[in-house]
Amino acid sequence: MWSESSERTASLSGALPAASTKVPKMTTGFLQVQQLAKAYQADKPVFADVSFQIDKGEFVCIIGHSGCGKTTILNVLAGLDTASAGHCFMDGREIAGPSLERGVVFQSHALMPWLTVRQNIAFAVKSRWPDKPRAELNAHVEKFVALVGLSHAIDKKPSQLSGGMKQRVGIARAFSIQPKMLLLDEPFGALDALTRGTIQDELMAIVRETQQTVFMITHDVDEAILLADRILLMSNGNEGPSGYVPGGMAEVVVNPLPRSRTRAQLHHLDGYYDLRNHIVDFLVSRARAH
Ligand SMILES: Nc1ncnc2c1ncn2[C@@H]1O[C@H](COP(=O)(O)OP(=O)(O)OP(=O)(O)O)[C@@H](O)[C@H]1O
Ligand SMILES: [Mg+2]
Repeated sequence: MWSESSERTASLSGALPAASTKVPKMTTGFLQVQQLAKAYQADKPVFADVSFQIDKGEFVCIIGHSGCGKTTILNVLAGLDTASAGHCFMDGREIAGPSLERGVVFQSHALMPWLTVRQNIAFAVKSRWPDKPRAELNAHVEKFVALVGLSHAIDKKPSQLSGGMKQRVGIARAFSIQPKMLLLDEPFGALDALTRGTIQDELMAIVRETQQTVFMITHDVDEAILLADRILLMSNGNEGPSGYVPGGMAEVVVNPLPRSRTRAQLHHLDGYYDLRNHIVDFLVSRARAH
């Protein structure tokens, strides 16, 4: 499966316009997912035989229709769920439970409602660095709240915030623990287009600067093209002529656009439309949505 996935990667990068060499050099296999399967019903696994790897400093997006199992995979990587088969390793160690080495932004925010924005983030920072002096802790929290543009709401509770603001707190919290890997489940889904754009830019800047490794779920093809070095295309399970076929990793697409791309010039870059059409075609005709 390993080689299969790399073969697909290689063949696809060949099929798309040159420039795929722009993906920076990285250590291989920082995160390794091997033959993962999840079945709630033994005879109908949601997905099976899912294998891929993510290199250190790499940004990988996963795209697929609702219900194919993206959140399930992310939860297994976060150590919050277990797979029915297969293994996941990060930095050479098998993932066996949650860890502050992985920062998670959930599909719906998961803030503690009785704590303010400041306290929600401070809680995470204190868990990561229990001995951080108070002044340093405050400065650290304020820096990450400012990053998502919420300084004005730092002493508010989640119930006083809009959905998009709550989601931004979740993003600030995940970033604030400076994890070895970020796991993002549609982190910008609840944001308006303007905020979404701003936060995408900020995320990209931080990720590039800190060489952060990211696994992100998105339904937005342009967002994946902007942010990801590679895009994993996942198919849904479905009833075929000869019985049920589980969902799985259909294809790994290498983003051939230069890593220095910005939102504003994305549409003008050579290869952008080929890449976009390829992914949209997959979603429309090959992902087998229910
Ligand atoms: N606890 C559970 N018990 C039974 N089935 C479940 C459970 N959790 C998830 N599922 C099923 O597993 C499948 C995958 O769910 P998952 O949340 O991973 O999908 P997803 O790809 O993230 O979808 P979306 O894009 O809508 O967020 C779905 O069909 C869902 O109904
Ligand atoms: Mg999901």
